[in-house]
Amino acid sequence: MDDTQVCRCYNVSKKEITDAISACGYATVAEIQDAIGAGTICGRCIPEIRSILASGAQ
Ligand code: FES
Repeated sequence: MDDTQVCRCYNVSKKEITDAISACGYATVAEIQDAIGAGTICGRCIPEIRSILASGAQ
C-alpha cells in the first residue's frame, strides 16, 4: 500500500493508480487520464504515472 501523492492537481495517490491498474487493466497514461483525471492539468505527474505503469500494479 502506498499513499504517496502522485498527482497534486487531482490529489491522486500512487495506491489509487495501482488499484485502478489492477482493477481495470489500464496500460497507458491516456487510460489513467481518462479514468481518474490524474495527469490532465499540469502534466507534472505524467512521468511518475508512466513509471507506475512500467513497474506494474503491486
Ligand atoms: S500533478 Fe498531476 S496533473 Fe498536475
